[in-house]
Amino acid sequence: MKIIVVKDSAAGGKEAFNVFKEALKKGAKVFGLATGSTPETTYAQIVSSDLDFSDCTSINLDEYVGLAGDDPQSYRYFMNKHLFNHKPFKASYLPDGLAVDEVKELARYDQLIEENPIDLQLLGIGQNGHIGFNEPGSDFTGKTQKIRLTNSTIEANARFFENEDQVPKYAYSMGIGSIMQAKQILLEAYGQTKAQIIEKMVNGPVTPDVPASILQTHPNVVVIIDEAAASLLNLK
Ligand code: F6R
Repeated sequence: MKIIVVKDSAAGGKEAFNVFKEALKKGAKVFGLATGSTPETTYAQIVSSDLDFSDCTSINLDEYVGLAGDDPQSYRYFMNKHLFNHKPFKASYLPDGLAVDEVKELARYDQLIEENPIDLQLLGIGQNGHIGFNEPGSDFTGKTQKIRLTNSTIEANARFFENEDQVPKYAYSMGIGSIMQAKQILLEAYGQTKAQIIEKMVNGPVTPDVPASILQTHPNVVVIIDEAAASLLNLK
């Protein structure tokens, strides 16, 4: 795990942008993408750059079950707003929150990932250690799943909704097994609220109780964190 500590999320976005740029230069064609507050500065850097993704495919980690792509709270909407409307990809995939047949939707997503092996996977991390929406206790070899969000995740995400009751209770998420297949993984985390979980992810035992701890076993992981998120790490 290569850990880069930056002053703040703005500086982190610039570092993350360089990882994307380098990957593109080396021929990466498939990018695994994330939503949430964390990657916003990264997407802003990409949008204001001349990087060209028109020959690339993106596959997002997750989507809320029950939300249409044009719902402002959906992850499809988030991605269009922050990235795709400004920097189009050849194809951009997210799970379909309105899929009628859940089993088929999970299979469709797994097939997409299989047909488009991910070169660079961008991740945030939940305060409980989730990656994608793979909550504590998730199987390290799992594929795409419908996941019941934990109360702590619902609470953490309520800030994007009018109130907590409006936060969907389920999401479709790429599984940890698929995330771990990515050739390179870039995880970003900013702010004091992430300090404790970053310490566990980096130094703690590899355990399903902390889903992100499995990243210790991946051969090519870059972690970009700000000073607040790094504050419990004994670096140097
Ligand atoms: C989002 C995702 C989640 C978030 C995590 C952190 O697509 O998969 O794992 O990365 O919940 O969210 P923020 O960045 O809002 O703190």
